[in-house]
Amino acid sequence: MRKKPVVAIDGPAGAGKSTIAKIVARVLGYLYIDTGAMYRAITWKAMVNKIDLRDERKIVEMSKKTDIKLAQSDDKLKIFVDGKNVSEKIRSENVTKNTNTIAAIQGVRKILRDKQRLLGRNGGVVMEGRDIGTAVFPAAEKKFYLDAKPKERAIRRWKELKAKGKRVLLKKIAEAIRRRDYRDIHRGISPLKKAKDAIVIDSTSLTQKLVAQKILDRIMESNG
Ligand code: DC
Repeated sequence: MRKKPVVAIDGPAGAGKSTIAKIVARVLGYLYIDTGAMYRAITWKAMVNKIDLRDERKIVEMSKKTDIKLAQSDDKLKIFVDGKNVSEKIRSENVTKNTNTIAAIQGVRKILRDKQRLLGRNGGVVMEGRDIGTAVFPAAEKKFYLDAKPKERAIRRWKELKAKGKRVLLKKIAEAIRRRDYRDIHRGISPLKKAKDAIVIDSTSLTQKLVAQKILDRIMESNG
């Protein structure tokens, strides 16, 4: 039997990667892997342990000793750090703000990249992040780069937060997204960029269902 492919979905914050990747994985019966959650998990642990986030040596040491597990149940992905469920904690504003400092540390990226490669080694995974098609699985059979206009991404975040009962100014969200994009695109190692062979999908005026369908069509068409 042919090995199932690795589906890589990269793109900037708020492009809808998580929702789309979850739908695609569910339809295909593949494993969904949220690599951003892994960077968030390391950031959360460093913050809880009051480690200076600029102390790269300490952060890398800590990362080596950290057990990160992703567990899927129904449509939810649970994240465990050293056995503790941190699924909600890693989504806090402070963790979100600090994660790209941690994501710029080479030693941390190497540790997480090795974990991600192990998770995807047998194929049959939908992995989403910033560097999956370029650095983690440069030979992935299916690569997608999901994008949307910055304003639309900010509006989506604002709606997500509103649904959780949090009211934040749209302007503030747009500024935070702009700052995150900038840091993800301009870091020295494994920056966010489109792989040469990735299929680009602009989701600005598309529904999530339609984007997922486009991706599924492309996967099926070359599998058939
Ligand atoms: O996708 P997210 O918002 O949960 O990602 C959190 C941060 O992690 C984001 O600032 C970029 C970083 N990240 C990364 O550098 N490489 C990845 N493969 C995934 C996320």
